[in-house]
Amino acid sequence: MSDRSYKIAVLPGDGTGPEVVREGLKVLEAAAAATGFRYDLTHYDLGGERYLSTGDILPDGVVDELRGFDAIFLGAIGHPEVQPGILEKGLLLRLRFELDQYINLRPVKLYPNVECPLKDKGPEDIDFVVVRENTEGLYSGMGGFQYKGTPHEVSTQIHMTTRFGAERAIRYAFELTRKRDKMKQLHLVGKTNVLTFVHDTWWRAFHEVGEADYPDVRREYAHVDATCMWFVKNPEWFDVIVVENMFGDIITDLGAMIQGGMGIAAGGNINPEGVSMFEPIGGTAPSETGKGTINPLAAIGAMEMLLRQLGEAAAAARIDSGIRHATSLMKGMRAGEMGFTTTEVGDLVVEGATS
Ligand code: IPM
Ligand code: MN
Repeated sequence: MSDRSYKIAVLPGDGTGPEVVREGLKVLEAAAAATGFRYDLTHYDLGGERYLSTGDILPDGVVDELRGFDAIFLGAIGHPEVQPGILEKGLLLRLRFELDQYINLRPVKLYPNVECPLKDKGPEDIDFVVVRENTEGLYSGMGGFQYKGTPHEVSTQIHMTTRFGAERAIRYAFELTRKRDKMKQLHLVGKTNVLTFVHDTWWRAFHEVGEADYPDVRREYAHVDATCMWFVKNPEWFDVIVVENMFGDIITDLGAMIQGGMGIAAGGNINPEGVSMFEPIGGTAPSETGKGTINPLAAIGAMEMLLRQLGEAAAAARIDSGIRHATSLMKGMRAGEMGFTTTEVGDLVVEGATS
């Protein structure tokens, strides 16, 4: 990619997805012009609307096409008329698995002037990153029913951990901790006091890898329940966290709330050796759809992460300045309470990113 030209797949999806994706692409255009890279967009209409009209969720051919891109930019997937689980499993989780996006990266960063629900905590206290394992654990799909629909119904959902899967997430997290160079501290989050098999694998992998290859990084451990408590009481204790899939899913929504809510939380599904996918984590927000009230900053933050992953650090830094400029002027982060429309917030980011 030395010619700095990128092929980006765009999946606007459902609900407010297309509205926030539009703002992300507006900011991409400005960042590219300011820092001199080129890109080529290919749109895909995957999502609930297409599923309801054609029955397609994710055709095999599309998965193969997506492998050929440098990155994927996703809006939001979900539809009130589609039964829960169909699109999540058939589209989002399938892409994560098939593209082996084994890291779910969730920065938890409170921007200046963003209202924080925690008393006496400010931007200097809330700035950490969660590295969530993204392909194993309870998300593995293993398990099933026996005697379904009878009084003797049995269901199991297996938490599957492999040493390989835990170790690659752990290595990614150690590398990130080093690169961030903030507190040089990595927390493993688990439940070693009860889940003594899978979390023992994580525990040993964490300490063996850390001791052998990352002696400069301080290793800490916290149980997942205590972590929820610390996020609220002492978020400043965290620098980087590595965590298995299900616990990671739960603590990252708590993280989103302390950084100002779903309107601002961005995430990346990363395959460090392949194609990665970036998304705002807020969902489709059906009640806001089409009103110009939804906050696009999460999608714009996802675009910032996408560019960082592609190595466009200068463009990512500009977007970061743009987001700061926008938050400094906005009244709030919640849909309809921003003091600006969706498009105007995108314009503010462009203004801050190019000045
Ligand atoms: C997330 C979401 C997904 C998950 C859902 C939509 C399948 O909550 O990205 O955190 O559980 O991973
Ligand atoms: Mn989640």
